[in-house]
Amino acid sequence: MKADAWLKRAHATETGAFRRVIVSNAADLNDADSLIDLETNLRAPRTTIVTEPAARGQSMKSYLTHLECTYCHGTFSADEPQRTCPDCSKVLYPRYDMAAAKAGFDRDALPSRPANMWRYFEMMPVRDEANVITLGEGYTPIFKAERLGPEMGCSALYIKDEGLNPTGSFKARGLSAAVSKAKELGITKLTMPSAGNAAGAMTAYAAKGDMEAYVFMPRDAPDSNLKEVAITGGKLTLVDGLITDAGRLSRQKAEEAGLFDISTLQEPYRVEGKKTMGYEIAEQMSWTLPDAIIYPTGGGTGIVGMWKAFEEMEELGWIDGKRPKMFCVQSEGCAPMVRAFREGTEFAEPWQDAQTVAAGIRVPSGIGDYLILRALRESSGGAVTVTDDEILWYMKQVASLEGMFICPEGAATAAALSKLLANQELSPDDNILLLNTGAGLKYLELLESVGA
Ligand SMILES: Cc1ncc(COP(=O)(O)O)c(C=O)c1O
Ligand SMILES: [Zn+2]
Repeated sequence: MKADAWLKRAHATETGAFRRVIVSNAADLNDADSLIDLETNLRAPRTTIVTEPAARGQSMKSYLTHLECTYCHGTFSADEPQRTCPDCSKVLYPRYDMAAAKAGFDRDALPSRPANMWRYFEMMPVRDEANVITLGEGYTPIFKAERLGPEMGCSALYIKDEGLNPTGSFKARGLSAAVSKAKELGITKLTMPSAGNAAGAMTAYAAKGDMEAYVFMPRDAPDSNLKEVAITGGKLTLVDGLITDAGRLSRQKAEEAGLFDISTLQEPYRVEGKKTMGYEIAEQMSWTLPDAIIYPTGGGTGIVGMWKAFEEMEELGWIDGKRPKMFCVQSEGCAPMVRAFREGTEFAEPWQDAQTVAAGIRVPSGIGDYLILRALRESSGGAVTVTDDEILWYMKQVASLEGMFICPEGAATAAALSKLLANQELSPDDNILLLNTGAGLKYLELLESVGA
């Protein structure tokens, strides 16, 4: 797309907090609608009171109706605890009354709401606002890569910075949603395996919600993840192995001790938090979508969540049918999705001896494999691997050109972009969005490798 976007910063007058918004292209600024968008965006407070998830003076109602299996299409109640499909063991998705939502949820209501992911409450699975456990997650800025873009030959390159979330990664979104819904369903004890960042997010939200949290994490997960679990009072078990080994132990512990296991996509609600990235991208880009999104894929909840958001927004009439090409990036040392995409299979075989410096994408297999592969194929996107050296090089490159200390998983998207440009899967004129999923500050032990 030809659009050249500008980034604006504005003081949110009520809080004094800095808020960054992306505004539409130069041509759009000449039309009245875009000017109104810009003005209302600039007036929206970053958060009024951080603990207040929703909109002051407006009561919000979730249009949640039921859960639907993404594989056999069986339907189930969303008002009792559920994990995977009782019939086929695949992923359950929350579904909403879309006709009522289309009539009752106007996107023009959004600008006056607090800038966190609960602004999309009507399309979120929690029924009562009082059950929302929030630390202010979401509504992260999209920056134009003013120096990295030209350096890579791109005229319209953007980075959405999920490192600015509470707990320093986009995992905050999924866990705010899942822990809130668990609270609403009366669950008080949670367990989960994690590559690292999800664990820190889970224990933070559990602490705020006064719930008990157990986590199972590979022994060599980033040090920051171990420390954030400890300080938020999580009960941590370190595992000699990978996230898949941690998953087995977490499920075992759940059975023994009566805990609820919230492994990603093995309960229906983490994806609802992650899908808000998709809503935000559309809202921040004035209800258009980029030509391509590049996403570092582990269990895949982020990529399938954004795809779900695009489907929902189309049904709501908020966006047209033009969707981005979705690209999944994985490391050469752990690339089950890339291999399955290339082989044209519906599911992905587990990857043996998974290794990469990007801990969040060291995920040898996941229950959402068929959903990731569907999104890549339906969007005419693709899948690409990068090496650890390329990841580390792009960490430095993005930091030194853009001032953004991004995580290795985020750096993998820039490395992937250079390959997709070289093999002409993407063109220099495309409007391209990279997802930086976390803060580089959580990976200080990697600094030596990037030569900083
Ligand atoms: C920083 C970071 N990026 C990406 C991922 C992969 O996310 P997903 O499971 O949504 O594919 C993770 C997962 O732990 C992560 O921590
Ligand atoms: Zn099913």
